[in-house]
Amino acid sequence: MTSKLAALNEWVDQVAALTRADRVHWCDGSAAENQRLIEQMLENGDLHKLNPDTHPDCFLHRSDPDDVARVEHLTYVCTSRQDDAGPNNNWMDPAEAHALMNGLFAGCMAGRTLYVVPYCMGPVDSPLSRCGVEITDSPYVVVNMRLMTRMGADALARIERDGKFVRGLHSTGELDPNRRYIVHFPEELSIQSYGSGYGGNALLGKKCHALRIASYQARTEGWLAEHMLIVGIENPQGEVRYIAAAFPSACGKTNLAMLIPPEAYREAGWKVWTVGDDICWLHPGEDGRLYAINPEAGFFGVAPGTGKKTNPNALAMLDREAIFTNVATTEDGQPWWEGLDEGQPAVDWRGRDYDPKNGPAAHPNSRFTVSIKRCPSYSAEAENPEGVPIDAIVFGGRRAGLAPLVMEARDWRHGVLVGSAMASETTAAATGQVGVVRRDPMAMKPFCGYHFADYWSHWLSVGSRLTQPPRIFQVNWFRRDSDGGFIWPGFGENLRVLEWILARTRGEADAVETPVGLLPTPDALNLEGLEERPDLETLLAVDAGEWREEMASIEEFFESFGERVPTELRDELARVRAGLGG
Ligand code: GTP
Ligand code: MN
Ligand code: MN
Repeated sequence: MTSKLAALNEWVDQVAALTRADRVHWCDGSAAENQRLIEQMLENGDLHKLNPDTHPDCFLHRSDPDDVARVEHLTYVCTSRQDDAGPNNNWMDPAEAHALMNGLFAGCMAGRTLYVVPYCMGPVDSPLSRCGVEITDSPYVVVNMRLMTRMGADALARIERDGKFVRGLHSTGELDPNRRYIVHFPEELSIQSYGSGYGGNALLGKKCHALRIASYQARTEGWLAEHMLIVGIENPQGEVRYIAAAFPSACGKTNLAMLIPPEAYREAGWKVWTVGDDICWLHPGEDGRLYAINPEAGFFGVAPGTGKKTNPNALAMLDREAIFTNVATTEDGQPWWEGLDEGQPAVDWRGRDYDPKNGPAAHPNSRFTVSIKRCPSYSAEAENPEGVPIDAIVFGGRRAGLAPLVMEARDWRHGVLVGSAMASETTAAATGQVGVVRRDPMAMKPFCGYHFADYWSHWLSVGSRLTQPPRIFQVNWFRRDSDGGFIWPGFGENLRVLEWILARTRGEADAVETPVGLLPTPDALNLEGLEERPDLETLLAVDAGEWREEMASIEEFFESFGERVPTELRDELARVRAGLGG
């Protein structure tokens, strides 16, 4: 098979020649094709079948123990001018990067099959969607891409119509961490990834395309590609309004996107609808509002911590047609991870008999892949080609102190400051130290495909085009008490905060003004039905001294981006500092 697009055929031929692949297979995305790939992987040990009685069509993949997370230090943005990549990215000269990557790819698929994976990010019929083709030698990538994107014949037909697509080239290579590179060429709309089979490094439609390349493309085209969930909140009157929220990796997006309302809310008729859990493309609409699509078609979610109590919707979709990566298994072959409040691990994520001396049974960044349509709270609006209108944008992070449970920015400009100054404790989602506070503007630190200062300017410019901009908020579910416990119960109870947020967008809830933003009055949050009243005094405290230090540190952070930092943002920062008394 080939395509009707000469440029695509030529590229596939070139890559096949470079990599010396034995066979070329064009993926059509069919169930039969999927079945064949799964059988082949069951045979060669890439996949293991899970208990077919409890988990029909569910499989386990164990990745190389050195290949379990995104590798930010090996991820590059290769723009012709180094300045355009910004201090927030590793940079390599494009010519140098091509030489390096060509060297790695040369002959790497000898004896293997090269898969051509056409995919569409977003509904295939949406003008807001963008397409790509990933070439890979990993059947694990193919079956994951089929769940995560609209993959196959329909996508290829659109690519042939558009004539334009992002070129992604991937090989698992030798899985040698010293020969591992994830390289982006935003000016060429291309991605090359070598030496890793892990999700964020290998499923190129996701972080590489839908965030790094798309953010770059979005800037030139006047929209935003963001690390955000999209959730619809239906009130007892049956009205659904949409929120987009950006939290860094492993900080609660998937959980919030499919939260189950507390009992008192359920009884009153509140419902939650999941449109997306990780990535959101935001386009200004003709009516001056901001519209969101979820470019993905599935979830690649963090398994540990997903339990009946914390995220029952996620559990409900994980007993059929799901792929698990680096989880443990029980005696009878069911998937298991820490925080799943049932069963016992028998075999750990590396395939060894479970022994607590070896650490957690499931890898802390173990994941599940499943189609969004299997989610009990799936919203059919995820297929709406126009997207859904967004009423509130929420930034959040994982912070033991300082950041209150929720606050509202005064306006868009202040909201951009709040987003650009976000900080969060690092998690297991990326290789490196866990639990260190780092700045993660808009939760895009690992994903913005260009200079952060230009990105903030772009945010300001998108805002200036909106006559009905969403209001911007900041939340923190992770504030801790002196014993180290979380003060806020979180998970489903977060709806209480979302209710306040949505009420604020209509001017219907009370707030106190502080120099850092607007906070709920102590009785503005609905706590009905909560077993224990949380310590709201701490959750909603604004300590001027601590905030002065924070603002000084933000100013220092901005300095590291030099002259390009927009004046409006510096002015906004000065305004907050003045309010805090210097
Ligand atoms: P990526 O998919 O990597 O971008 O991360 P994510 O933002 O989707 O993170 P996810 O929802 O999977 O959350 C990861 C971790 O945060 C899990 O360990 C959850 O148990 C925990 N978590 C999520 N929501 C809450 C909350 O409201 N409170 C507390 N305390 N923990 C939470
Ligand atoms: Mn993510
Ligand atoms: Mn997630």
